[in-house]
Amino acid sequence: MCGIIGIVSGSKEDIVSSVIEGLSKLEYRGYDSAGIAVLSDGNLQRRRAVGKLENLENKLEEDPINGTVGIGHTRWATHGKPTEENAHPMMTKDVALVHNGIIENYKSLKDSLITQGYNFTSQTDTEVVAVYMQSCIDKGSSPREAFRQMLKVVEGTFAFVAIFKSVPNKIFCAKNKSPIVIGFGKNMCVGSDASSIAGNCDEVVYLSDGEYAEVTEHDAIFFDENFCEIKKERQKVTDDLINEGLGQYPHYMLKEIMEQPNAVRKTIVANEIPVDLLKNVSRILILACGTSYYAGMVARYWFEKYLKIPTNVEMASEYRYRFPVIENGTLVIGITQSGETIDTLEAMEYARSTNSNCRVLAISNVKNSAIARSADVVFYTEAGVEIGVASTKAFMAQLTVLAMIAFHDRPEVLNELRNFPNICDDILSSVNDEIENLAKNLYSAQSIIYLGRDSLYPIALEGALKLKEISYIHAEGFAAGEMKHGPIALIDDNLPVICLCPSCDVFDKMVSNIQIAKARGKNVIVFTDSIGNETFGDDFKKIVLPNICQECVPLAYVIPMQLLAYKVAVLKGEDVDKPRNLAKSVTVE
Ligand code: AGP
Repeated sequence: MCGIIGIVSGSKEDIVSSVIEGLSKLEYRGYDSAGIAVLSDGNLQRRRAVGKLENLENKLEEDPINGTVGIGHTRWATHGKPTEENAHPMMTKDVALVHNGIIENYKSLKDSLITQGYNFTSQTDTEVVAVYMQSCIDKGSSPREAFRQMLKVVEGTFAFVAIFKSVPNKIFCAKNKSPIVIGFGKNMCVGSDASSIAGNCDEVVYLSDGEYAEVTEHDAIFFDENFCEIKKERQKVTDDLINEGLGQYPHYMLKEIMEQPNAVRKTIVANEIPVDLLKNVSRILILACGTSYYAGMVARYWFEKYLKIPTNVEMASEYRYRFPVIENGTLVIGITQSGETIDTLEAMEYARSTNSNCRVLAISNVKNSAIARSADVVFYTEAGVEIGVASTKAFMAQLTVLAMIAFHDRPEVLNELRNFPNICDDILSSVNDEIENLAKNLYSAQSIIYLGRDSLYPIALEGALKLKEISYIHAEGFAAGEMKHGPIALIDDNLPVICLCPSCDVFDKMVSNIQIAKARGKNVIVFTDSIGNETFGDDFKKIVLPNICQECVPLAYVIPMQLLAYKVAVLKGEDVDKPRNLAKSVTVE
């Protein structure tokens, strides 16, 4: 939810530009405000700014600081509005702290500190943690003791990164549910994810829940929840962690849409479905959020139709609060791009705790992420670093892995899947102008609805999510057959209706649903193939996609949905990669 970074350089070199560089790679995690604190010769200094990172850079231009150790933060606001006072780092006389997560007992801690005479300048839970450590130091604790005492009292989720006035060239960091990666290289680094520090280091260590580390100029020491020193395995930094930047693209989202053919190719090559994966599996339970949840919905059609395995798909944020029953023989599949979505992680852990007989599989785009580490089996989508908040290539790669599972024993379908990147290339090159024109017709709409059936219903939902999350136009996806049970009342000549209608098993039903919609509103746009092109008259706006096997249509039809959302948002002048109120990785419940 927030991006945090820490760098220890030791020398007087310009630590600020390194911290800012790290923050620029983390901004996709939150951009309500940004801030930096540095320590130089026993002097803690801080700069903060509301809004995007460039505002902080401008402030540093006007009023520079420097130091030998620094921490930084890009914020997605949880407690307190996005103001400068609420921007991290939180700082007291002796401590500067950045935090990603939510402290659940901050109120009682704050009340106690207020009675001890401490004052607060923000509405954040994080400031309470900083002031608590200050109170420990004021009572005679060393910084290390203060940090450890704090870890004993705070409850909730956190990735903390702290520096202390009296401890030059050392960063203290601790983790519970929110990610922290420690990098070993020219400079020692700490970051919310490996891609934010990959450019500065050769090896990384992933902190686990309950652990904390003290990071110095050339090394790091690690401690468990009892503060006993432990050894941690270092992982090599791999190319897929490197964010190569925008290249010739105006936005990451467009770059990532265009990278989808390779995301599919690499994901197929990198994964082999174990023959016994589904052995003794009597039910599949898919847990996910947002776009990843829609990938799970597509998979349910495949798993039940082709594998004959009963399959449930659950919104992770709802799942564990309804006390669900987990039968023996259940395969739990957590689907996630970031691997850090706490709703999904907690739901998977709940499932496992409810029935230890179930096996847990993760599909993650980030290696060694919390969700990947929590699973018995992991399939990594090889989409590469996905920066755009609106997920595109990761979704495509998720569908690829799920299709590999669903069609593991159907070589003819797997061959179609292996060929799909070429179809993806064709679609990307053929529909661009039509989508551009459609976007010009739609970008001033107040509301748009998307209709789909069968495995295209989740794609209708995904198309609506893509549009609303980056263009802020209200959009809603519906199962087309459900329209006549109420939502059809919405349709009039002002409401654009986007229909996904490939010639597949439910084609005839979908045609009649579309005719019903057309009878009530003139603005019906149909995405279809050559058969649909002959079926629908010229009074329909049609965008024709290649004829492909039924199993691959969800992968094909999501592409124009992504492009349409992107183009509408660009026409509206919105910030495509950093849409308001959102963050790339949702690490709070
Ligand atoms: C998708 O465009 C959104 N950014 C959001 O719905 C996202 O899919 C959801 O938060 C789940 O994230 P995850 O895949 O990283 O778990």
